[in-house]
Amino acid sequence: MTISPRRALSGLRRAAGHAVDLGRVLVATVNNPLDGLPPEIFTQDLVQRRLVHRPAVYLTGPSLVQEALVAHAGDLDKGETVRRPLGPALGDGLLTAEGDDWRWQRRTIAPVFRAATLPRFTPAMLAAAERAADRLLLSAAQGPVDIGAETMHVTFDIIVDTMLSGGEGFDVRATAAGIERYLHHTRWAILANILSIPAWVPLPGQRAGREVAGALRRQLGARVALRRSEGERRDDLLTLLLEATDPETGRALDDAEIVDNLLTFVAAGHETTALSLAWTLDLLARHPDILRQVQREADAATPGDVAALPLTLRVVQEGLRLYPAAPMFARRVANPFRLGGVALKRDTVLLVPVFAIHRRTAWWDAPHVFDPDRFLPNAVAARPRLSFMPFGAGPRACIGAAFALHEAAIVLSTLLRRLDIQSVDPLPPRPRMAITLRPTRPIRLRVIPRTTRQLGPDPA
Ligand code: HEM
Repeated sequence: MTISPRRALSGLRRAAGHAVDLGRVLVATVNNPLDGLPPEIFTQDLVQRRLVHRPAVYLTGPSLVQEALVAHAGDLDKGETVRRPLGPALGDGLLTAEGDDWRWQRRTIAPVFRAATLPRFTPAMLAAAERAADRLLLSAAQGPVDIGAETMHVTFDIIVDTMLSGGEGFDVRATAAGIERYLHHTRWAILANILSIPAWVPLPGQRAGREVAGALRRQLGARVALRRSEGERRDDLLTLLLEATDPETGRALDDAEIVDNLLTFVAAGHETTALSLAWTLDLLARHPDILRQVQREADAATPGDVAALPLTLRVVQEGLRLYPAAPMFARRVANPFRLGGVALKRDTVLLVPVFAIHRRTAWWDAPHVFDPDRFLPNAVAARPRLSFMPFGAGPRACIGAAFALHEAAIVLSTLLRRLDIQSVDPLPPRPRMAITLRPTRPIRLRVIPRTTRQLGPDPA
């Protein structure tokens, strides 16, 4: 068979195109995976691609996302995309477990995070937020502050205090830095997974990461064992986990399962909420009119009364829209099915790029503009439900969503009751997608003690 020069040339071009595409994706996976996202996902509901040898499908249409994550939840699993980077640290906790093991844990732990439980955690959240305001006011005298470092500190305090009421024995800064180091290196595990590099091949940062996780696991294990032997009841997550039983079988969690889940809550709950707070504070610093309204709302509310903070909650939601802390998540097709006219074969990677969903012009006008009024009830009712999904969707959606919103509203209102903030850099930092959405450089804010004189008269 002879091939015409024209066909050969177009074949070569296609192959070169794939190679360039693959190169772009691989470089982006290490540098900033946001740069490797296909531009079509900002306009189309379903985009097909290949991730090296595996078919991949990006889903950004709310009804298709719903169909996949809810109706076909049983045909999907997380596969190695999640286990490889996070499994070594989190064991078989809720985020990484699969199948029946996940199902019974979810049933057992769900009541711990229901809305009615949240008020128990309010005092710890308020106290940690007040301490954060004290620290910020102290460091403000030395110039602009790295607000991300501070929000990491406060959410770490909160997760430790709500889990272990007191959290003695935890070196907050060292542990938070260790977790950050661990997450920083997960990009290599993600890349290794895309390239199907076998699990025995050592990756950069892997050993240090395992050491950090091992040390944390030992610390937590000792506290769980102590609490179980003491039999002391406290108003914290650990007590609730020790007492939780599967409503179907009556089975309780053993110590190792509790440690996996405590670590999971630290990993899944602290950095996500910290980043959301940092991005939101940056947005508020750039929108002084809205900042002032949030401050007035905080002034008028009883501390900890989140129901009295509707604007603050809208601001948090709009922050999560523009900078979703979990910007993309993945599933593996375990049982083939059809979706949007496309046959999804076994092992297809389903990617849900929340970052792109939240900036699609189909349902968000001027999508890059900060406008908390998008979350007024009428505006919400006019959009498809999954046009906003910072906490995922379906049975594996975030178990800590209500906890995170409660916490974010309390921290923001506590800080902004006492502080004014101004941005120092003319433009916000670019987001970088690791597992979470981090700023490419620190978010620096000028912090000023707030006085009523600065506020001026209330126009209302
Ligand atoms: C703003 C803060 C947060 C964001 C944006 C967020 C986002 C998410 C998302 C998108 C998922 C689903 C991932 C997937 O489907 O693959 C998830 C799962 C999860 N999140 Fe969160 N999360 C936040 C805070 C929290 C907090 C505070 C906790 C716990 C204290 C938590 C615990 C979990 C757990 C355990 C899962 C796994 C649930 C399961 O698979 O059954 N998250 N989170």
